[in-house]
Amino acid sequence: MEQEFIDLRSDTVTLPTEEMLDAMRTARAGDDVYDDDPTVRELEDRSSEILKKEDSLFVPSGTFGNQLALLTHTGRGDEVLIPEDNHIVLHEAGASAVIAGVQLRHLRGQNGIIDISELQKKYRTEDIHYPHTALICMENAHSNGTVVPLENMAEVYEFGKKYSIKTHLDGARIFNAAIALGKKPAEIAALADSVMFCFSKGLCAPIGSVVSGSKDFIKTAKKNRKIMGGGMRQVGYIAAPCIVALNKMTERLKQDHENARYLADKLERLRFFKVFKNRLDINMVFFQVNLTESKSIKFTDGNFTDYLYSKKIKINPSYEGQYRFVTHYYINREKIDYVVDAVKSYIENIF
Ligand SMILES: Cc1ncc(COP(=O)(O)O)c(C=O)c1O
Repeated sequence: MEQEFIDLRSDTVTLPTEEMLDAMRTARAGDDVYDDDPTVRELEDRSSEILKKEDSLFVPSGTFGNQLALLTHTGRGDEVLIPEDNHIVLHEAGASAVIAGVQLRHLRGQNGIIDISELQKKYRTEDIHYPHTALICMENAHSNGTVVPLENMAEVYEFGKKYSIKTHLDGARIFNAAIALGKKPAEIAALADSVMFCFSKGLCAPIGSVVSGSKDFIKTAKKNRKIMGGGMRQVGYIAAPCIVALNKMTERLKQDHENARYLADKLERLRFFKVFKNRLDINMVFFQVNLTESKSIKFTDGNFTDYLYSKKIKINPSYEGQYRFVTHYYINREKIDYVVDAVKSYIENIF
């Protein structure tokens, strides 16, 4: 299925491939709340096999999967240690306070890398005044465009084991992380008690994520999924394109990473552009436009995004002064050249 606009806002915008649509049409489905859906069972088994976890559970979204993991690992009023720039903190609408009823205690944001000495300081010992530290959350790949070295994840996991604190990995883009790190997804998943990953990002499936972990964890999570309204019925129709995603789309993410580097190189050559090349591990290019004060009056988020929109290019407004362009299945080099030309002509028009 072709997309009309060049959409650089995220890899979540990707429409399903023809093969995915065919898989949906021909899927075998049943009522999954009765455990009757063979396709969703196949997807969950395949996910467990790839991540080498005991069991897996299909859920509607990444946010759902993360929040389900929090709810399942913790009790009300518990504390969760988490880097301040993780998706669960920044972009899940405060759900952890609403659903699990936990307190998020922030660790310094360092592109997902956790400082063990900070963890040691922030972990709570037994005291009547303190909440119980129940969980540590990691994110890999990180939505800042970087990957977390497995040595750091291993240290966090070992710390958790030492103090009986569970660990959860937001692995929305675990396959991107695996490619960037040159590791198997299972090697990353081995360093957390539970893992969530998404099908509807660079893998192009329309809907869905999986949470994986031990048999006991998934058994409780299944009940909690029902509580959260995520018990789905003939869900095989949406699990089927996810199986295609797992079998056909994970290896090709490498091209998205290469295209991101191609785009970064071209943007960097433009006057006033500062590309954050230290955050170019996956399919995301972050940059700033550093104009002199007099010129920056003409350069506004609104003008820039509207101009590109008029050229049939969709981008998000800047966040904390930075733009993020995301490459994916529907972004090839020809489109990247077209985007860079459009950006260039916008900047030239300012002068
Ligand atoms: C790192 C990360 N975690 C979780 C999510 C949430 O996924 P969803 O949009 O399916 O809720 C996203 C979404 O972009 C993400 O980037």
